[in-house]
Amino acid sequence: MIDLSIDPFQHFDRLLKEAIAKQVPEANAMSVATVDEKGVPSVRIVYLKEVSKGGFVFYGNYMSRKGKDIEANPFVCLNFHWPVLWHQIRITGKAEKISAEESDAYFATRARLSQIGAWASHQSEVIPDRDWLARRVAEYEKQFDGQVVPRPPHWGGWRVIPTEIEFWFGLSGRLHERFIYQKTDAGWKTFQRSP
Ligand SMILES: Cc1cc2nc3c(=O)[nH]c(=O)nc-3n(C[C@H](O)[C@H](O)[C@H](O)COP(=O)(O)O)c2cc1C
Repeated sequence: MIDLSIDPFQHFDRLLKEAIAKQVPEANAMSVATVDEKGVPSVRIVYLKEVSKGGFVFYGNYMSRKGKDIEANPFVCLNFHWPVLWHQIRITGKAEKISAEESDAYFATRARLSQIGAWASHQSEVIPDRDWLARRVAEYEKQFDGQVVPRPPHWGGWRVIPTEIEFWFGLSGRLHERFIYQKTDAGWKTFQRSP
């Protein structure tokens, strides 16, 4: 149940905390759907790392398929599904790169092997075999030996600024609840949809 007079970010925060408290596996994993310049969709799971400045932040390689899709078409759709709670949250919006400073700050918190991996992996590109990747990891380990690993310029975060957020709660008899927040110039327009 959602009180539609309350800001949707407050509901999201509460529901995510509830999912984590109830030990929903990978509660911060979400699907991210993108559409390329030809209108071809694709979807993959990423981790939500932060909700800040009015948007939902995730990280990855700017040269990856999702990176190229977002460059061509910033409209994306996020989806969380927490089966134990029978909750689904769908967020439609526009993705924008976060600042280099924000990406640097988050990159610095990552495990060293993940930092090396961000240099070694050309995410989404065809590779000859696993050895190719292992060789690149070894090369970058050597290059950055004894140093702080800097953030690669092709790696960073996106913030998805929502235009619509839908909170879905499963109920018996397929009579589920759907609470929608739609962004308008005057603020959030709120309503319910038929299940
Ligand atoms: C649970 C889970 C979490 C993931 N988290 C991320 C992530 O935060 N960032 C990321 O780039 N890829 C993440 N991945 C890998 C992506 O699903 C995907 O394979 C990768 O981003 C390449 O996608 P693309 O080729 O469509 O750009 C995750 C995969 C799983 C299963």
